[in-house]
Amino acid sequence: MSLKALSIAMLATSAAFTISQAQAAGSLNVICSADVVICEQLKGDFEKKHDIKVNMVRLSSGESYAKIRAESRNPKTDIWWGGTGDPHLQAASEDLTQEYKSAKLGDLHEWAQKQAASSGHKTVGIYAGALGWGYNADIFKAKGYKEPLCWADLLNAELKGEIQVANPNSSGTAYTTLASLVQIMGEDEAFEYLKKLNANISQYTKSGSAPVKAAARGETGLGIVFMHDAIAQAASGFPVQAVAPCEGTGYEIGSMSIVKGSKNLDNAKVWYDWALTPEVQSRMKDAKSFQLPSNVSAEIPPEAPKFENIKLIDYDFATYGDPKTRKSLLERWDREVGSIAN
Ligand code: G6P
Repeated sequence: MSLKALSIAMLATSAAFTISQAQAAGSLNVICSADVVICEQLKGDFEKKHDIKVNMVRLSSGESYAKIRAESRNPKTDIWWGGTGDPHLQAASEDLTQEYKSAKLGDLHEWAQKQAASSGHKTVGIYAGALGWGYNADIFKAKGYKEPLCWADLLNAELKGEIQVANPNSSGTAYTTLASLVQIMGEDEAFEYLKKLNANISQYTKSGSAPVKAAARGETGLGIVFMHDAIAQAASGFPVQAVAPCEGTGYEIGSMSIVKGSKNLDNAKVWYDWALTPEVQSRMKDAKSFQLPSNVSAEIPPEAPKFENIKLIDYDFATYGDPKTRKSLLERWDREVGSIAN
């Protein structure tokens, strides 16, 4: 081969290499742990703005944590967007996610920055949501049930088979419920409560918001969920009433983390910075995602539950996002509640 032919061949090879590199740089693997409608909206908006193809799966918070942990030797996921903060904190302390200090960090509310700082910047708050429930007002009226305003009301015998809540192993909503009750009542009392409540539960679902979707369709009377998930059903025209429990309640700091060993790290950072902007967070309401956004300049949807009117506990994220606490509460739930579930 002449020198010229060789150099042409080499050029061709290096061009092919560049193209395949560009293709590799053009994708991002995302786990999305919030509602599928907002997940799809984010994917569409991101792909429109950036030349990066998003491969997305929707998994509940606990399931996402388990997947990232299972893949830790050979990560397939780059970024984990959304879902309750506790499993993100657990992943951070188990070194499954990686430190990243976005330039946008200073634009966030204190609660979101605190979530980042407490994890060594391995996760960050993207939204907040208060726990409560939604009930089907038509069913309650037709059956003459008492209005369920307090955790204590959910134990009323007339509600037998009328309540759904998710399983706290798969769902962050349900883990937030468990951890909130433990903080409100004390651990033993909370488990006594959950065992009594079990008599009224028809189903422990996998996803956190499924119970209120079932209540909206009239398949059950009440779903224990984040209040904004109940409001989303009401906004879609269903006869769902959202409740902030009278004894007080917990809340989530929906979070985002970059997976350690991400194979598309630069793209993951592009998503991360983008997801913290007011433009992206203000558009969440278009998907009927009525959480409180973490960017101080993002629009607060008028439908979002007013935190100042809710009796919120001072949820201890450091303790309940700690691997030891989360593992021990989930094991106890399996032993004492899961084992007697219908
Ligand atoms: C819904 C809520 C989110 C929450 C998520 C947790 O999508 O709108 O605010 O973070 O549930 O999902 P999970 O299935 O883990 O309970």
